[in-house]
Amino acid sequence: MESTNKEFVLPNGVVIPAVGFGSYLTARDGVQNIIDALDAGYRYIDTAKMYRNEEQIGQALKEYGIARDEIFLCSKVWPTDLGTEATRAAFEESCRKLGTDHLDMYLIHWPKAEADDSDWLRKVREGWAVMEELYDAGRVRAIGVSNFLPHHLMPLLETARIRPMADQLELHVGYMQEYTLAYLKEQGILPQAWSPLGRAKLLGDPEISMIAVKYGVTNAQLLLRYLIQRGVPVIPKSTSKERMEANLDVFGFTVSPEDMSYLSCLPERGWSGEHPDME
Ligand code: A2P
Repeated sequence: MESTNKEFVLPNGVVIPAVGFGSYLTARDGVQNIIDALDAGYRYIDTAKMYRNEEQIGQALKEYGIARDEIFLCSKVWPTDLGTEATRAAFEESCRKLGTDHLDMYLIHWPKAEADDSDWLRKVREGWAVMEELYDAGRVRAIGVSNFLPHHLMPLLETARIRPMADQLELHVGYMQEYTLAYLKEQGILPQAWSPLGRAKLLGDPEISMIAVKYGVTNAQLLLRYLIQRGVPVIPKSTSKERMEANLDVFGFTVSPEDMSYLSCLPERGWSGEHPDME
């Protein structure tokens, strides 16, 4: 039930780091922020067309001089780019900006661009066919979705030739989306956590601090370790190299079953307010 691995394995055998680096909404200079993350030891960089930082990430990778096969690069297609030609073009544009000819993982960012889009499923299926084509062509090592709940995945799975390998969701103590997690487990789709620290809203939470002090770790480290033990890889963000390093240093302790249970039962907190079926 518990995992202490520094790596997870996607359903197709591709290895994914347990702790990756999230690059959304960094106030700091994007290039230097990614260079710091690489220097801190991150080997998974998470981005998306919507973050508008793929060019900066490409620049950072070039400046840092890291070999392409040493880094796991994930990007995402925005729902307005779902369609045969549009998804192909979005993928090529992401690759060009990132300075690569392939991605390690490519995800459909959200199931729909607007909550009331009654045609979302047709667009998702059309985009998904392109993801399958890219996978077959070896342009991407793994394909998946993000912010898909069971009722978005079920109809996609009915027609998909290749099943999504991962689903990147908001997951953290206080918002564990247990219904979706159980469904993903049943389907053999790896969950991955965005905002694993609840966008910093959980870092001063006294009920979480009470557990963190027992292990001599920070709330951030406890929150990340909790998710990894739940079998969920994480992609925390930070603009500080010191905190980037601390967030990678989560393998020297193990959260006990009673504390895992306590953290799993805390009432909801830290939710971003973002939901795939709401505006
Ligand atoms: P900062 O950039 O100043 O480090 P999430 O990944 O859940 O969205 O959370 C990101 C937020 O958490 C950022 O505001 C970041 O601020 C903060 N943060 C990340 N790591 C830590 C840490 N180890 N300790 C305190 N705050 C952190």
